[in-house]
Amino acid sequence: MAEQATAQIGVTGLAVMGRNLARNLARNGFTVAVHNRSPERTRSLVAEHGDEGTFVPAESMADFVAALERPRAVIVMVKAGGPTDAVIDELIPLLDDGDIIVDCGNAHFADTRRREEALRGHGLHFVGTGVSGGEEGALRGPSIMPGGSAESYRKLGPIFEKIAAQVDGVPCCRHIGPDGAGHFVKMVHNGIEYADMQLIAEAYDLLRAGLSAEPAEIAEIFREWNSGELESFLIEITADVLAHTDAATGRAFVDVVLDRAEQKGTGRWTVQSALDLGIPITGIAEATFARSLSGHAEQREPARRAFPDAGEKLQVGDRETFVEDVRRALLASKIVAYAQGFDQIRAGSREYDWGVDLGGTATIWRGGCIIRARFLDRIRQAYDEQPELPTLLVAPWFAEAVSAGVPSWRRVVAEAARAGVPAPAFASSLAYFDALRAERLPAALIQGLRDNFGAHTYHRVDREGTFHTRWAADRSEVEA
Ligand code: 6PG
Repeated sequence: MAEQATAQIGVTGLAVMGRNLARNLARNGFTVAVHNRSPERTRSLVAEHGDEGTFVPAESMADFVAALERPRAVIVMVKAGGPTDAVIDELIPLLDDGDIIVDCGNAHFADTRRREEALRGHGLHFVGTGVSGGEEGALRGPSIMPGGSAESYRKLGPIFEKIAAQVDGVPCCRHIGPDGAGHFVKMVHNGIEYADMQLIAEAYDLLRAGLSAEPAEIAEIFREWNSGELESFLIEITADVLAHTDAATGRAFVDVVLDRAEQKGTGRWTVQSALDLGIPITGIAEATFARSLSGHAEQREPARRAFPDAGEKLQVGDRETFVEDVRRALLASKIVAYAQGFDQIRAGSREYDWGVDLGGTATIWRGGCIIRARFLDRIRQAYDEQPELPTLLVAPWFAEAVSAGVPSWRRVVAEAARAGVPAPAFASSLAYFDALRAERLPAALIQGLRDNFGAHTYHRVDREGTFHTRWAADRSEVEA
C-alpha cells in the first residue's frame, strides 16, 4: 500500500523506549510513522495511544519509509550492536540522498563514528543520539544529545527540542557535535551517573554504620539534603528507595535486595575511553570497579570468613556533625566526579575535533536526564564564563564548596578507613583532590625507577632536556 508521505518523523522498534518516544512525538503534534518487526506492537501502540496524536502505522519497512516526508528522519530504537546494524542495512536501499537515520540507543561512540562514515558513503546522514531519562523521560521529556551533521540537525533540532525536557524555557537538547559526539557525551553522562550513584551508596553505608539507623530514617536525611546544594533526581529517588518497604516481608526494601550491582556497559566504556585519552576519572572508575567487586561472591565469601573483624565500630561523636560531615564529603566528591567527567568530554572533543560546548552540555543536563541536578546550572555558568577553565574544581562556587568540605571529607574518609567501611569513591576523590593540588608528587621517584630498570629517561626541574643516569656503570648522567 503506497502511503501518503505525511509523517515528519518515524520510529522503528517499539519496545518501551521506542514506544514512549513515539508517543512523546505524537503528543507534541508531530505526525509519527511507527513500525516494529512484529506488527502486534505497532497495532497495540495505535490501539492504546492513538488518541494522543497522529500515528501512521506501517507493517512493512517499505510502507514505513514511504510514509515519511523528505528528508526522511527514521529513529531506530532496537538493541545496540548487531540488531541496529541489521535495521540500518534494511533501511539503506529504501532511503534517498539526504535522508536521516537516528540511533537513540546507548551505542558505543566508535560504532557511531563507523556507521556515520559508512552511511555518508550512501548519501545518508547517521545521527547517534544520546537520550537520557529512562522510560519516563522518553515519554515526558528526556535530555537529548544528538551528534551527526549540522544539516541533519536542521531537520531534527526543532523536533527534538520540542519533545525534550525544558528548563527555564530552554530545551534540554542541543547539537553536541559531528559523528559520534552525541553518543560520546551520553557515555560520559552515564559514567558520571555511575560515580553519582556510588557516592550516594557510600554515603548511605556510612550513615547506616555510623548512626545504626534504619533505611527509612536515612531516607529522611536524603530528603533533607535534597532541599540544598545536593538537590538532584538521584538524591530524590534515593530517599524514595530507602523509604520503600518490601511488601512480601515487611522489611526495608534495600535489605532484601541482593547486594551485587549490575551494569549494561556504558560506565565501563567511559573508563576505557578515559584510559585511552589519559584522563583520570578516578570517581567513575572506582564506581565501575565497585559494581564489579560486588558481583564477585566467589571472592567475597572467603574474604568475609578470613577477615571477620578487620574493622572497628564507626565512631560518631555528635550525630548532627557526623551527618553534616557526610553531606559535605558527598558534595565535594560529587564535584570531583563531575569535574573529571567534563575533563573527559573536553579531551574527547579535542581528540575527535568535535567542538563540544561544555557549558551547553551542562545546560541540557539540567533536566530530563538521570544526573539532572540544581548544580548543573552552576557548571553551565562556570564554563560559560570561562570556556577554558582548567578544571571545574577551581571555578569560584566549586572551589568554595570543596574548600568548605575538606575538613569533613578528611574526617569521613579517615573514619571509614578506621572502621573498615569501604568508601572507594569518597577516598579516591579526596586523593585526586590532594594529588591535583600537591606541590610535588612521588611521580619523580617513578621516573627514577623507570630510568633505573628500563633507561626510560626523565626530565629535570632545573633545566630543559631529557636525561638518563648510567645506573649500571658510573651513575653519571647523560643527556638522552
Ligand atoms: C539514562 C540511563 C540509561 C542506562 C540505564 C542502565 O541515561 O537514561 O543512564 O541510559 O542504560 O541507567 O545503565 P547501567 O545498567 O549501566 O547502570
